[in-house]
Amino acid sequence: MKLSSLKLFEEAKRYLPKGVNSPVRYFDPYPIIVESATGPLITDLDGRIYIDYIMGYGANLFGHSPQWLINAISESIENGITYGLTSRLEIEAARAISETVPGVDKLRMVNSGAEATLHAIRLARAYTGRRYIVKFRGCYHGAHDYVLVEPGSGAIGKPKSPGVLEDASRSTLVGDYNDIEGIEKIMRKHGDEVAAIILEPIAANMGVIPPNIEFLKACRELASRYGSILIFDEIVTGLRIAPGGAQEYFGIEADLVTLGKAMGSGVPVGVYGGRKDIMQLVAPEGPFYQASTFGGNAIASAAIVATIEHVRRYGNKIYGKLSRIASEIEAEAERIAERYGIELTVNRFEGLIQIFMTKHKVTDYTSALASDTGKYMRLHRELLKRGILIPPSQYESWFPSYAHTGENLSETLYALRESLRSLA
Ligand SMILES: Cc1ncc(COP(=O)(O)O)c(C=O)c1O
Repeated sequence: MKLSSLKLFEEAKRYLPKGVNSPVRYFDPYPIIVESATGPLITDLDGRIYIDYIMGYGANLFGHSPQWLINAISESIENGITYGLTSRLEIEAARAISETVPGVDKLRMVNSGAEATLHAIRLARAYTGRRYIVKFRGCYHGAHDYVLVEPGSGAIGKPKSPGVLEDASRSTLVGDYNDIEGIEKIMRKHGDEVAAIILEPIAANMGVIPPNIEFLKACRELASRYGSILIFDEIVTGLRIAPGGAQEYFGIEADLVTLGKAMGSGVPVGVYGGRKDIMQLVAPEGPFYQASTFGGNAIASAAIVATIEHVRRYGNKIYGKLSRIASEIEAEAERIAERYGIELTVNRFEGLIQIFMTKHKVTDYTSALASDTGKYMRLHRELLKRGILIPPSQYESWFPSYAHTGENLSETLYALRESLRSLA
């Protein structure tokens, strides 16, 4: 790192906790400092260019700042940003979401994923008049009290965060991902008091863990049987797995769905929506109070409209491309591992991929935690040296984008080969 970066990072630490605005951004010995980003590339302060697989942790489905997004945002700003009133653009965005995401009769736009899950959970409580929610160990739904119980992502392995009231944690029951008997047991015991079952339909915050479809069906069936609300947290999978997310992919409909990330192509957005009879409770239509100054602002609305338009235009080409990139990375990692006797397991679901540093299968939280995170950090560092940027934590997904080129992929595979070899 050049002196300028080091100096700036020291300054970052003066103003921001450990120099970052979100914990997973920090990595040893110091994170890179971004100067700019475009398409599949990030340029740091020292002029080094990286092929980016962090991609705003899934927000940039089309890469950084595609021209059509710049145009849509610029045009929207000309007419004001935040009105405190409903706008034409906002209605267009809501219509586009409702037409694209299964079961979303009505929706509310907020500003982040955490807000979306916070309100969806409280709405489920309001609708059912019940206390408990059920989540799954290692699933991450944002950093708020209801769900900071055995979470994934940067808080994985830390079952509790200081500051969360005991009462809030006690109202959250925790099952194991992909464990059908486990969720059946929880629902047999507490089902009549469970307001909601919330899950990532494809787990992407303890690395990538594909769901057993029977597990998803069991969650659907149990929620219906006990009168609980099924919430699919599609903040990662929405638009990324199919236009209608995992609901469309698996043909399983939730009662409420939460969206964010790719929906705004990098512009902060959050959405919760679903069945009309539940959403009718939201104020001012109903008594469930939720409000926000910036919800549905013009920049977010323009980004949503433009993003969905592009998803519709390029359709299967997008999903084919993301899967192809991820499957080539998977094949190369497995080939090199076999050749050099490196213990690793690649988990991939379409375009979501993570390399776990363990020879054992990774199907849930416990098996994910058993992988060698130190070795993953070394892989991260080796790839970084070779101009490839992957998430610095084992417990995230790599995010290929529609902007990655064949040349980017060839460079990535070469760097992966060399990096893995250096770990052997
Ligand atoms: C599945 C899931 N839900 C919710 C969130 C929280 O979203 P945000 O960081 O926008 O608050 C995340 C963020 O990583 C996520 O991956």
